[in-house]
Amino acid sequence: MTTDEPQNLDNLFAQLELEVRQAAAGLSSSEAVENFRLDWVGRKQGRLKQLSDQWLKSAPVEARREIGQRFNALKTLVESLLEEAAGAGPSDAALAAEALDVTLPGTRRLMGAEHPITRTMNELIAIFAALGYSVGVGPEVETDYYNFESMNFPPGHPARDTQDTLVIANQERRSLRDRLLLRTHTSPVQMRTMEQQPPPIRIVIPGKVHRNDAADATHSPVFHQVEGLCVDTNITFSDLKGTLDYAMKALFGSSVKTRFFPSFFPFTEPSADVQISCIFCAGKGCRKCKHSGWIELLGCGMVDPAVFAFAAEKQPAYDPKKISGFAFGMGVERIAMMKYGVSDIGQFYSGDMRFLEQFV
Ligand code: DAH
Repeated sequence: MTTDEPQNLDNLFAQLELEVRQAAAGLSSSEAVENFRLDWVGRKQGRLKQLSDQWLKSAPVEARREIGQRFNALKTLVESLLEEAAGAGPSDAALAAEALDVTLPGTRRLMGAEHPITRTMNELIAIFAALGYSVGVGPEVETDYYNFESMNFPPGHPARDTQDTLVIANQERRSLRDRLLLRTHTSPVQMRTMEQQPPPIRIVIPGKVHRNDAADATHSPVFHQVEGLCVDTNITFSDLKGTLDYAMKALFGSSVKTRFFPSFFPFTEPSADVQISCIFCAGKGCRKCKHSGWIELLGCGMVDPAVFAFAAEKQPAYDPKKISGFAFGMGVERIAMMKYGVSDIGQFYSGDMRFLEQFV
């Protein structure tokens, strides 16, 4: 057959059109559609490509127009048939083959749960939120100024030795107050908050802290604290006692009693340690409370005027003659260990699913 004669050309393309239509009619799966596509419009072996190479390109110049028009019509037909087949989606038979078998057992997805440390922190936050406290946070890499100096631990003060500090290396060129360290407590956020907002303040500060302590059953070099700060006019030690007594009852149950012992923190004066009646023996005396009936749980006190003086450098409203306040700080791990009966602090950080699953 030659393509010189229009009659032959018409026959050839009519034949091809028939073939395309027949091939497109039986496309029942996405695989068949893909094969059809490869067969006709495949870049290397496709029929259209072959047609173009064998007929169109080698045709004499006078015949190219005629052939080209027919070729383009065929190409458009192939493309529209392909579009139709692809858009139609799989046939009923194909759908049935791929259908979901609802009698098969499903894939069980594990429910996530709050980590016991997060849970305890959130519980504490909720207790204080009900008393009108909001939440504050601050950086874990802190300056010497916020962690110590502004909390009334002057350079060289022996109280610094109670918090064995991890410092960032190679900072000798900086002044001491600007040197960076891993915060040893959440107390520096007290100062950061006071610098940002004038009194009154009621705030709880949950967060991670670091100390260069050897790990054992009750110590970890990384642990968590919840700090509290309340500043207003006429805040007294009675407010502190009432607030913490309420919080401990909310946390451990209404039968828990609290008592306050004199203590020392540089940033509070007077300072106190808070003990709660032993939750394991209800105060009768047991191994957990070393037969005393009481368990020491947190530190607190009235904010030292020297701390207000540091805050007043940025916010003059912290005039210790006009305002007063209390602060407190507690270890989250210690509380979580008591609440959930955990005897080794390391369990919180092990990632052991057998431990964590108990809290789902
Ligand atoms: N920052 C203290 C510590 O880490 C805990 C503490 C005690 C915080 C008394 C306070 C407080 O705000 O008033 O040991």
